[in-house]
Amino acid sequence: MQVAPSLLAADFLRLEKDVEMLNAASDIIHLDIMDGTFVPNISFGFSIIEAVAKKASVPMDAHFMVVNPEAWVKRCSELGVSMMSFHLEAAGRKTRKILRDIRAHGMKAGLAINPDVPVEKLYPFIGEVDYFLIMSVFAGFGGQKFIYQSLDRVAALKAKLAAKSNTALIEVDGGVNEENAAALQEAGADILVAGSSVFRSPSPAKVIASLRNPR
Ligand code: DX5
Ligand code: ZN
Repeated sequence: MQVAPSLLAADFLRLEKDVEMLNAASDIIHLDIMDGTFVPNISFGFSIIEAVAKKASVPMDAHFMVVNPEAWVKRCSELGVSMMSFHLEAAGRKTRKILRDIRAHGMKAGLAINPDVPVEKLYPFIGEVDYFLIMSVFAGFGGQKFIYQSLDRVAALKAKLAAKSNTALIEVDGGVNEENAAALQEAGADILVAGSSVFRSPSPAKVIASLRNPR
């Protein structure tokens, strides 16, 4: 599996050191963008993405938890973001259009859902999505407990993708740690997002390595 540590859990006073650590140890850098409306929290915006972009040598994955993701596609691509995801709940009827726009801007298109959205709602978009983001906590905050039902959702989506011979990846985000990584791999996860378990550890690089190869 690939590991995408979430910078939300990093120490913002030493972002440069953390980005350097991620360049050496991780596959992807996950950036959580929250607007205070789609989720009851505000994280950070383009000034931080721009600063990270100057240092990042691994791909940047921007996870938009905002009501109007379509507004930020161009800006993201200009800043060098490689993967951009947004929530189906936020985009509604605009989903297909936004997915196409993200791809047209040269980025990988990700479609995210919260734990209360039936996983079947993703199926109509298979073929237009590069990676699906299954939230394993409710979007909005780091440090929450992993919801174990997420494993079944990942497995169901994995089976559906296989049945359609589709190569989209499955990313899982929220409460991911060394205890649940093996089960996530078994269920079919391809990319693990991890905030607290990585950054609250005294040896983040070791945690990243064990998430990548659990057991
Ligand atoms: C939650 C974010 C996550 C979060 C993960 O809304 O999308 O990416 O930072 O943090 P942990 O791993 O602490 O749950
Ligand atoms: Zn996220």
